[in-house]
Amino acid sequence: MNKFEKPIYVTMPTLAPLHEVDAYMERIWASGIMTHNGPLVQQFEKDFSAWSGVDKTVAVCNGTLAIQLAIRALGLPKGGEIITTPFTFIATLSSILYEGYKPVFVDIDSDTLDIDPKKIEAAITDRTVAILPVHVFGNPCDVEVIDDIAAKHGVKVIYDAAHAVGVKVNGKSVLSYGDVSATSFHATKLLNTSEGGGIIARDPSVDERLRELRFFGYNKEKDVACVGTNAKMTEVNAAIGLANLKYMDAILADRREKYGLYKAILSGCPSLSFQKIAPSCNCSYFPVMFEDEATLLRVDSALKAANVYARRYFWPSVNKYRSICADAEGCPISEDIASRILCLPLYRTLAGDEVRMIADNVKEVIG
Ligand SMILES: Cc1ncc(COP(=O)(O)O)c(C=O)c1O
Repeated sequence: MNKFEKPIYVTMPTLAPLHEVDAYMERIWASGIMTHNGPLVQQFEKDFSAWSGVDKTVAVCNGTLAIQLAIRALGLPKGGEIITTPFTFIATLSSILYEGYKPVFVDIDSDTLDIDPKKIEAAITDRTVAILPVHVFGNPCDVEVIDDIAAKHGVKVIYDAAHAVGVKVNGKSVLSYGDVSATSFHATKLLNTSEGGGIIARDPSVDERLRELRFFGYNKEKDVACVGTNAKMTEVNAAIGLANLKYMDAILADRREKYGLYKAILSGCPSLSFQKIAPSCNCSYFPVMFEDEATLLRVDSALKAANVYARRYFWPSVNKYRSICADAEGCPISEDIASRILCLPLYRTLAGDEVRMIADNVKEVIG
């Protein structure tokens, strides 16, 4: 077993050279503008949109509020049902509940780990108002099929794209599908602003409403147009994002290379399986599935003993959170996969040799 001197965590933030962030900080200090849709936030929105290939982005203070505002901006009938995936982070589910909707879980495809589009139509009722899929680990959902189902039934689509910056489908940004996409710029995400989120709306009037919602409900005329909140991104967060944005192509290439390295070493183990990813997946995580939970626990504790802190992500399947969704439907595929999936460390400053050593450790434990 390869033991590491310093702890290796599942992820580390991608950080641009400090002097490049400082250059933006000097601009903040000189202007005295810290927040309130300042020049750096506007620049970040413009540059992120250009890099992603979308018209506009609304920058907000985190990815959870991005989902909440995305739901709210569509003006859906309150109390309606939102179809979603059980294999996700708690923020997807809590946002639906926080906004006053009933989550209806549709199980996942056991290969892609995204919501199974073949099962969505059967879950649509006359109370369904929207479908909220997640591009799990940056692996794009079957967006064309999902958008078609939604159009056929007259319901909206909100993508939780927290993991999906830098992903293209049919040459277009995955963020341009659906009615709205919500992404995260949290410190653990591919593009980070420390805390932050971004919302991309297809309809300009929804984009406008999102800008009102994040700023206490004020419209351009400084009148209160709706019940808003404070979801602004600060200038400091935008500065970090602008500095990091320059490195995104290199970051994507690096992830892809290390993902390939893990896969090459671990593919030789017949008892392991992997997410089936589209060529455009951003490879932002390296999830590995074991035969059963007992094997996962054995590997996880051996890795910890070697100073490697992998993460059970996502676990448990969120339909199992009885305290907030007591009557949720069972989702056997998601529950099974959640019990035996582990994300291995993957980040820019992780060396190729360290990837090899971690993969060798996993191989050694499972034999
Ligand atoms: C799938 C998913 N959705 C939403 C979020 C929430 O993003 P944030 O942490 O920026 O609020 C996360 C964060 O980990 C996530 O993984």
